Amino acid sequence: MSRFLPTLAALLLTAMPAMAGDAVNGAKIFKTQCGACHRAEAGKNLIGPSMFDIVGRKSGNVAGFKYSVANQAANLTWDAATLDKYLTNPREIVPGTTMTFAGLKNETQRADLIAYLETLK
Ligand code: HEC
Repeated sequence: MSRFLPTLAALLLTAMPAMAGDAVNGAKIFKTQCGACHRAEAGKNLIGPSMFDIVGRKSGNVAGFKYSVANQAANLTWDAATLDKYLTNPREIVPGTTMTFAGLKNETQRADLIAYLETLK
């Protein structure tokens, strides 16, 4: 049995990044990391556009928000994988964006945050 344990551990570790994030924790992260500029409610644009229904949406597509040229031209779809890359380092996938956010480097926190964004429907 013991010789199977390392295999089991490796399997668990491989499965972890694919596990769904914790949306409750994600809501807290959203408040502290994004809340200065973004709201979750539909139609509430602050410094950044409303995050309501953002998952699955085309970039630069929130009504009433004046985007930078860079964000307008980005031509991305905000699915979970793209959001994960963007939130790691926004300037890397939207060079010239006016979103002054250095990036959320913690993978678990990003997964939790994206799980929360998915609830904003
Ligand atoms: C300092 C303000 C600020 C913070 C903090 C911030 N953002 Fe933004 N965000 C913006 C601005 C401004 C834009 C529009 C960028 C542009 O037009 O180039 C934006 C754009 C976005 C977009 C693209 C929206 C679209 O319709 O294409 C997403 C997604 C996003 N932010 C998510 C987040 C998340 C999630 C967080 C928290 C981790 C966050 N932002 C933190 C200001 C901010």
